[in-house]
Amino acid sequence: MTALTLSTAAVPGLRADAIVIGVAKGSASKPGAPVVAPGAEAVDEAYDGRLAGVLETLGASGGEGEVTKLPAPAGFKAPLVVAVGLGAQPEKDAGYDTDALRRAAGVAARALAGTKKAAFALPVADAADAGAVAEGVLLGAYTFDAYKDRGKDAKNGKAPLGEAALLGGKPRDKAFKAAVERATAVAEELNRARDLINTPPNDLNPEAFAAIAQAAAKEHGIKVQVLDEKALTKGGYGGILGVGAGSASGPRLVKLSYTSSKAKKHLALVGKGITYDSGGISLKPAGHNETMKCDMSGAAAVFAAVVAAARLGLDVNVTGWLALAENMPSGSATRPGDVLRMYSGKTVEVLNTDAEGRLVLADALWAASQEKPDAIVDVATLTGAMMLALGSRTFGIMANDDAFRTAVHEAAEEVGEPAWPMPLPEHLRKGMDSATADIANMGERMGGGLVAGLFLREFVGEGITWAHLDIAGPAFNEGGPFGYTPKGGTGTAVRTLVRLAERAAAGDLA
Ligand code: BES
Ligand code: MN
Ligand code: ZN
Repeated sequence: MTALTLSTAAVPGLRADAIVIGVAKGSASKPGAPVVAPGAEAVDEAYDGRLAGVLETLGASGGEGEVTKLPAPAGFKAPLVVAVGLGAQPEKDAGYDTDALRRAAGVAARALAGTKKAAFALPVADAADAGAVAEGVLLGAYTFDAYKDRGKDAKNGKAPLGEAALLGGKPRDKAFKAAVERATAVAEELNRARDLINTPPNDLNPEAFAAIAQAAAKEHGIKVQVLDEKALTKGGYGGILGVGAGSASGPRLVKLSYTSSKAKKHLALVGKGITYDSGGISLKPAGHNETMKCDMSGAAAVFAAVVAAARLGLDVNVTGWLALAENMPSGSATRPGDVLRMYSGKTVEVLNTDAEGRLVLADALWAASQEKPDAIVDVATLTGAMMLALGSRTFGIMANDDAFRTAVHEAAEEVGEPAWPMPLPEHLRKGMDSATADIANMGERMGGGLVAGLFLREFVGEGITWAHLDIAGPAFNEGGPFGYTPKGGTGTAVRTLVRLAERAAAGDLA
């Protein structure tokens, strides 16, 4: 991954391949003209104060996502200046929006692929801004090339930016140092979640995922327990076993426990980990299964968040539950019409084997509930319906507690992850009434994301605060990269979960 340093070096003498500066859209007084953002003063001076004009001549507007490259002025050690668009210039006295900085840093880092070292001279006003730029750089520079031989074919893409020096911060200031350290830990684990999501399903089955979780847990002093098929059968985990029954690769339930001696709260995180979702006997049609390696994004996010919490040494106990299975059709697969006896003891009539996520989550939610945590948050690529409702960049938040749903939404907003509260309308519950079992795994088609949420709610222990994040939309980016988000696995929800753990550590869980 890209190496990060905080630097106080003067820009002209900096030994780097490029200097990144910010450019914003002009305000009312000079509409249309780009404005050079703070941090770029030395560059502007070397251009005799004409940098804004030079950028305008080159067609720059300061719009978000825009990248303008220009040769560095005479006397600079670095040969190249990269001006990245920040969007609208903030009101007088207001600083640049933290997530706008994070996104711009991501855009610039991606544009600098193939470059060894760049210096970032963006408008950093405080430690939070420095952390955001650091996060943006590390997340934006991400590439997944484990299956490509870059040396043989230039088409296979360039190496990510090697090194980034962040200017404008205060390397000796505790808050700045802490912000950059936090950003590094979170971004590294988030990028690891992306790697897991992008890894093809023939290489990442439940067993392989569990082994990776075990190794990481060992490295970071996290207690880990893996239930294999034998243990799941003994324990009566009918949901996880039922979903995994058709696959040649058996299911697993992984429990990761990070504990702090100073913890006052216990947060449980539950992730949907379907390493491939073919739909099972209710097979998905072609066109709907090519990206279904991403169906373990919830488990990847939970895994990353627990490891990040451990690396940050947060004063909170965090338990992660990864419900891992591969959903495949075969002679041993669960059929539509089968009834599963779940870990909670409830019976579920499986009407559609493609509604498998709620089955594995039900068992993991019940297992998590047995420890009576202060709150449970589950994360899942659960329904196409949530994607239809909120689009491909926003995840839905459902909960059995209004204040907690708001707390989760606030956490998402604080870290720049688009999310929106969704209801759990009681009237949709009866659509899941089953003639044969306690509940069916499918209900009304309309409001399918909310129906899934209502199903999950039944498997949360009595009196436990719970929220459900349906990340089906933003988990996997099928379009082009934007901001600090690459194509493919995005790592959505990781930063919201880490923020929630931080809130819990501060006793502020709602
Ligand atoms: N993994 C899918 C949901 C999904 C769809 C995630 C698209 C990411 C992108 C989930 O298991 C599923 O198949 N859900 C069904 C439920 C239905 C059968 C009740 C769906 O949404 O169609
Ligand atoms: Mn499915
Ligand atoms: Zn699925």
